[in-house]
Amino acid sequence: MYPLIRNRRLRTSESIRRLVRETLITPDDFLVPLFVVEGKGVKEEIASMPNYYRLSLDNLEKEVKELWNMGLCAVLLFVKVPDSLKDNKGTEALNADGLMQRAIKTVKNACPEMLVMTDVALDPYSSYGHDGVVGDGQILNDETTEILAEMSISHAQAGVDFVAPSDMMDGRILSIREALEDEGFINTGIMSYSAKYASAFYGPFRDALDSAPVDLKNVPKDKKTYQMDFSNRFEAIRETQMDIEEGADIVMIKPGIAYLDIVREIRNEVEVPIAVYQVSGEYAMLKAAAEKGWLDHDAVMMEQLLAIKRAGANIIASYFAKDVVRLLP
Ligand code: PBG
Repeated sequence: MYPLIRNRRLRTSESIRRLVRETLITPDDFLVPLFVVEGKGVKEEIASMPNYYRLSLDNLEKEVKELWNMGLCAVLLFVKVPDSLKDNKGTEALNADGLMQRAIKTVKNACPEMLVMTDVALDPYSSYGHDGVVGDGQILNDETTEILAEMSISHAQAGVDFVAPSDMMDGRILSIREALEDEGFINTGIMSYSAKYASAFYGPFRDALDSAPVDLKNVPKDKKTYQMDFSNRFEAIRETQMDIEEGADIVMIKPGIAYLDIVREIRNEVEVPIAVYQVSGEYAMLKAAAEKGWLDHDAVMMEQLLAIKRAGANIIASYFAKDVVRLLP
C-alpha cells in the first residue's frame, strides 16, 4: 500500500493551508523606521529608497497618526543632521532642543501611545561619519560609550520609550543602563543592536542620512573595527549574550534576509524578544527588481518578511511595514 502518508493532503486547498499555517504576519510585528529632517512641509524621496521619505516635523506628525490608524504601534527614529552641526564628538546629539529630541516630543504629542525608539550612535552627528569618536586613526571605545550614555539620557528626558544603540562599542549597554537608572529612568528600555554586521547592505541608509564614513587620511574608511565580520557566527551569540547580561531588554540582529541562520541560532540561545532589521539595501534590491518587472513586489516582500519571522524574529524593523499592512486581510 503505497503511500500511506501523503504530505500534499495538507496543501490541497487554501482553507487547509490556512488551518495548518505556522507563521503569520500582523501589524504588531513591525517597528517602522522614520527619517526626520529640519524644515517645514518637507517630504523628500530618498533616491536609493523609492517611496521612502525624509520628513520634517510637521509631516512626521501626520505620518505617525497615519501609522497608528493603520494599526502600527512602534517607530524607530533617525535624524539627518546638517553638516554645519557635525563634529568628531557628535556634540549636537546632546542638544536638548536638537532635532531628535524635538522629533520624540512631536511623536509623543501626536500619538501618546505610539512606542518611540531612537537610534543611538554618533554617525549622523559625526563629521567623519563614524558611530564613535575618532582619535589616532581609530574609533575610541570608552570615550564613545560615555557620550552614548549621555545621549540616551537626553532622549529619555525628551520622552523616548526605548533607546536603540546601533554603534557596537564594547560595554555600551551597561554604561547606558547605569546612566538611565542613576537618572531615575527605570522604565526606559534598551533595544540593543547586538549582532550588527559590517554590511554593504546599509548603503541606501547612508544616502538617506548623508552619514557614510568620509575618505580622509587617519580616519578609518569603514566600520569593520566595530561592526561584526560577516564570516562569524559564534561571535554573534557572544555579543548578544553579553548585551543581555549588561541590561538589554530586546536584542537585534542586522541585516535580515542574509542572516537568518544567525537569527535562528540566537532564538535557540536566548529568552528575550528578538528584533531583526530588514535594512535599506534589502528594500532597495526589491524595489529595483520590481521596477524592472523582474520580481512580483508584493509576493516577494511577504515571502521575505514571513521568512524573517519564521526564523525567530518577534519584531521586524522594515521599510515595507505600511505596504504589508495594506495587504493584510
Ligand atoms: C547607524 C545605523 C545604520 C543603520 C541603522 N543605524 C548605518 C550604519 O551602521 O552604517 C542601517 C540601517 C539600514 O541600512 O537600513 N549606526
